[in-house]
Parts: sequence; structure tokens; C-alpha cells
Amino acid sequence: MPPTASLTPLSTGLARASAGLNLCHENAQELFDKRPELDFIQIHPEHVLQEQGGVYRDQLDELRRYYNVILHGFGLSIGSSGPLDREYLLLVRQLLKEHPEAVFSDHFSWSSLSKHHFHDLIPLIQTEETIQYMVERIEETQDIIGSPILLENVSSYMRYKESNFSEIEFINEITKRSGCYVLLDINNIWGNAMNFKEDPWTELSRLRPESVRGYHMAGCTLEKVGAGSLYIDYHREAVHDEVWDLYEQALSLFGPWPTLLEWENNVPPLERTLQEVEKISKRLRPYSLGAEQ
Ligand SMILES: [Fe+2]
Repeated sequence: MPPTASLTPLSTGLARASAGLNLCHENAQELFDKRPELDFIQIHPEHVLQEQGGVYRDQLDELRRYYNVILHGFGLSIGSSGPLDREYLLLVRQLLKEHPEAVFSDHFSWSSLSKHHFHDLIPLIQTEETIQYMVERIEETQDIIGSPILLENVSSYMRYKESNFSEIEFINEITKRSGCYVLLDINNIWGNAMNFKEDPWTELSRLRPESVRGYHMAGCTLEKVGAGSLYIDYHREAVHDEVWDLYEQALSLFGPWPTLLEWENNVPPLERTLQEVEKISKRLRPYSLGAEQ
């Protein structure tokens, strides 16, 4: 029995050992036509806000009534010095009412300044000052949407010399002080460890076990950069074998939590992505009898 089995999920109606797929423009038509069995789909609140009519919006509206849903944002920019977008957060609050099974997540990052969105998840300078700022912003966010949030560890390709906390220490302090939770992207743990020549197993085991409430699985791509190479988080290929191994390690450390397969670029036919989702389900199955809510 995993150590977190006694914890209840934040959402209602979504089993801890569940596997899902992101909804995106590239797979919406096939999902719409075929309606495969999935424990949940992940949608972006930004798409509900930005898509005004059109085929994708119609499919999104229909599919979110058909499937269990979790909400994953990319525009909250919680670490930015600009004000939080109240209109957006009120939409999230409304979506959470419409989907009692859902949780809302975004990232440990910033991505906008004033009205300018960079369309990238930029890592934060990991200091005491940032931790205090993040805690304030998380509390404000949680107050507006009326629910705890999950934040996802991001991929990074550089580090700030001003940072005096490691990424995991930084995340641990924020979750401890704010009451928010971690959406653990296993691929980002692995890719960052490879890029910075660290041990992914050690990084994983340093996380506060009680803070984890969900997993992401994705494929990163090894790319030549200058004289060396880096794993870039493109989400355009299958999950690496080493990342599956790390996921199994995470399940044994933190227990089962809803796990998403992300494949948003070079998206293959649905049949192929469903094979990856099945790999998640297969690994969750041993937990599904003893570790539900
Ligand atoms: Fe992710």
C-alpha cells in the first residue's frame, strides 16, 4: 500500500488511479468521432475563454460534457509581477462548478508581463523572496477560484546564479507554506536532471510526498545545441523508457494520482496516443483496488 493511500483526492468523482489524454486542436476531431474510453480529458481554460465559436469550440463543449475533465492552464503566470487576471480566474471558478470532478493546475513559472504573453513557461529565480511572493499569489488565486490549486514543475534549460534554493527545495517550501499541491511532470524531472547532469531518482525522492496530486507524462527530444545537446520538452514524441521507470518509482513513493499523457506536437493518429495512455493504465492497475478514495 503506498504511503498516501489514505489521502482523499481534491476532486470528487475522479478515481486516483485514472489515466487521461490532453484535448488539443490536433486530436479533437478524432476524439469527437470515436469517443474512446478514457478516465478523463484535460482541457485548457484559455481555450474556453479564447475560442469564440468554430468547430474546435463546438467539439470542446461537447467533449467536456461527455468525459470527466481536469483543467490545466498555461496563462496564469503566477510568478509574474503583473496583477493576476481576475476575469480568467473567475472563469476557472465557474468551470470548477460545472466540473466537480476537476482540479485546476498551472505551473511554477511566469509567462507574461503587463499585457504581453511570451507563450513560454519561464522558470523562477529560486529565492526566499520569490517563495514569499509565490505564497501570496497562490493564496490570492485559491481565494478567487475557491479551491486549492496544483502547480507543475517546468522544464528548464538555464539556471539563475541568484537562486539559492534547488528546484525541489523551492517547490517544497511553496507547497508547505501555501497549501497548494504539485502536478508532477515526470518527464520534466527526468529531462532537467539529464540537462543539468543530476540524478533523477534523487530529485524525485526529495519531494514532499504529501504534496503530489497528479502526474504528467510526455516525450522530450534530444536536440543539438552549440557543441552539446539538450532534452527539449516539445511533447512531440513517445515517452522515453527511462521516464516510464521514473513514473513507476513515483507511484511507489507518492501513490497513484490522475495521470495525463501529453502529446501536442507531431500528434500521431489517436490509436497511437491511446497506446501510451494504456501504458499509464497498466502501471496504475495494481493500485486501483487498494488505493481509491
Ligand atoms: Fe506537463
